[in-house]
Amino acid sequence: MADIQRSAVLVKPDGLQRGLIGEIIGRFERKGLKLVGLKMMHMTDAQLSEWYVEHKDRSFFNDLKSYMASMPIVAMVWEGVDAIATIRKLVGTTLGREAEAGSIRGDFSMSQQLNLIHASANVGDAEREVKIVFTQDELIEYSSVMEELIYADFERKK
Ligand code: CMP
Repeated sequence: MADIQRSAVLVKPDGLQRGLIGEIIGRFERKGLKLVGLKMMHMTDAQLSEWYVEHKDRSFFNDLKSYMASMPIVAMVWEGVDAIATIRKLVGTTLGREAEAGSIRGDFSMSQQLNLIHASANVGDAEREVKIVFTQDELIEYSSVMEELIYADFERKK
């Protein structure tokens, strides 16, 4: 049985400023993931406090929130079979300079904080994060003819 998942992805301020939105979207499209939500926005302090709740006691919490609120970001929701783990592999590990070559962070970043992109870590985080930045009617349900070329029939069945 296919586990069709949704993952929340943010292109962080440094990713947007460096002109990497197209590169990032292109990698996800080429992989075969399906875009179901997309917007450019300024995240508020309240949204960021909720988003980064697991880091609320860390020394970098306020600095991380100020950086994320300093400039616009691009928020996306991507869908696919096992999309959460698949996207984490495309993104690479947190510290850019040690992230695997071939991953987005591994190819384009050096920093721990300015690491270009966020992707949901697990199903619970994905559900929570999607709701922080998207309303239900901003997530678009549609069928894509590409799905027949990306998955075998038995892999696409929910
Ligand atoms: P991400 O994994 O998307 O979500 C948590 C973010 O906190 C992480 O990316 C980094 O941007 C940031 N972060 C993690 N560790 C540190 C750190 N030690 N110092 C500053 N920022 C960090």
